[in-house]
Amino acid sequence: MYIVIAYIASSLHHNQSPAMALKIIDHGSREYQQMIQLRMDILRQPLGLNFTSEELEQEKEQVLIGAFEEEKMLGCCMLIKLDKQLVRLRQMAVLNNLQGKGIGRALTQFAENIARDIGYRKITMHARKPVRGFYEKLGYQVVGDEFLEITIPHYEMEKEL
Ligand SMILES: CC(C)(COP(=O)(O)OP(=O)(O)OC[C@H]1O[C@@H](n2cnc3c(N)ncnc32)[C@H](O)[C@@H]1OP(=O)(O)O)[C@@H](O)C(=O)NCCC(=O)NCCS
Repeated sequence: MYIVIAYIASSLHHNQSPAMALKIIDHGSREYQQMIQLRMDILRQPLGLNFTSEELEQEKEQVLIGAFEEEKMLGCCMLIKLDKQLVRLRQMAVLNNLQGKGIGRALTQFAENIARDIGYRKITMHARKPVRGFYEKLGYQVVGDEFLEITIPHYEMEKEL
């Protein structure tokens, strides 16, 4: 099994927690339950949406990533294989009261490193319109026109690894 764990101490921005661990988590684990809750709170509930059991079942095949302070999940994201060279970053979320402290950047860079290590050449994603600037700061470029997904405007964005 592919296991990566990285500890970041003071490389994060102002008011950042003293230590944050980034790690790959297992589907069905206690951490995975935390991840579902975080994604519900940050990504789905505000839109009045939920996850289907089929959707969660498919996540067995995906790389599940969490940022933790001790036992508490602060943020998460996932990687799903599209083809041998192409991977999609999805379900990026950071706890509301901890946004803007560098956790999203750390998660994205960690996910990119994992994707690179696996051998993917390009990373793609569907970015919500209000966070386009976040991904642009991390080197992603918009491809094509704005489109609607789960009722809100998105852009497809991508980056060479
Ligand atoms: C989008 C999100 C993951 C970013 O994570 P974060 O931890 O808040 O972002 P960071 O603190 O790592 O920000 C990194 C840089 O991007 C900038 N940034 C963050 N959010 C931004 C936004 N919405 N627009 C433009 N720039 C943004 C930060 O100012 C920072 O820039 P700096 O290095 O010059 O100071 C987080 O805000 C979030 O969970 N939002 C709600 C859920 C969501 O929209 N998820 C994305 C779905 S596609």
